[in-house]
Amino acid sequence: MKITVIGAGNVGATCANVIAEKELANEVVLIDIKEGLSEGKSLDMWQTAPINLYDSRIVGYTNDYSKTANSEVVVITSGLPRKPGMSRDDLIATNAGIVKSVTENVIAHSPDAKIIVVSNPLDVMTYVAFLTAKVDPRRVFGMAGILDTARYRAFLAEALNVSPKDIQAVLMGGHGDTMVPLPRYTTVSGIPVTELIDEERLNAIIDRTKKGGGELVNLMGTSAWYAPGAAAAQMVEAIVRDQKRIFPCCAMLNGEYGLKDIYLGVPVKLGKNGIEEIIELKLNAEESKLLHESAKAVKEVMDVYDMMAKSATV
Ligand code: LAC
Repeated sequence: MKITVIGAGNVGATCANVIAEKELANEVVLIDIKEGLSEGKSLDMWQTAPINLYDSRIVGYTNDYSKTANSEVVVITSGLPRKPGMSRDDLIATNAGIVKSVTENVIAHSPDAKIIVVSNPLDVMTYVAFLTAKVDPRRVFGMAGILDTARYRAFLAEALNVSPKDIQAVLMGGHGDTMVPLPRYTTVSGIPVTELIDEERLNAIIDRTKKGGGELVNLMGTSAWYAPGAAAAQMVEAIVRDQKRIFPCCAMLNGEYGLKDIYLGVPVKLGKNGIEEIIELKLNAEESKLLHESAKAVKEVMDVYDMMAKSATV
């Protein structure tokens, strides 16, 4: 089995490394446009195999999509990352064209692949990949919810001084400041989190989660990669091992939550066919309002892309 990661930047390389260490495929292909980058990074990673004891063969190629042929899963991380002061939406003009051309190449060589988009602005780039690939939307989806939920869980684990393993949570909406962490669906080993933390501290954690990506951009001058790469690899694992795991992912909605023709973060079941089910929670009025506000923010950026596509500027 072959898994491909497009983009050998920080997120792509980290994702490929986690995939190889977990031995999710016997071949992991890393592609980048920058001459030598994916060859070098994949060679470096392959040289960790005798130390970290795995068999997955990582190989890198400069822009040669023929080497990605018949991949089971393709992760698209291509595009520019944020710099301090930028919102993810500011990246649309540069990243839409990149994601479009990458998706054309991906689908030409792996018509049956499941495609996981990681490029930003995430929800809209997933939409761009779907429009370009022209395949069932259950095979084209985005990574954001696992990352955002991981940040929320990590902050909670720290605040409560408990293991992050024991924190379960759902978070919905777009991958931006309007994302919707759901305290009502957050537990610590089954105990509702609201029984363990007061409202003020919980609200501060929710707020920090929403701005979690920006916090890292401000610290490092570029966007994060360890958690984003690991999160995308966790989605790959659920697919190739047909785990039927329930994760928040960016999925095309077709009436669920009263929303249609929009890519947005919702809980889904991930297995060998990609998104096998969209799980519709019974949100209360406040949660539903927040989700719809988030959908509106994503739709505005989707409309910008639609206009760009109409005027052929992408
Ligand atoms: C982040 C970027 C990858 O949230 O969107 O860190």
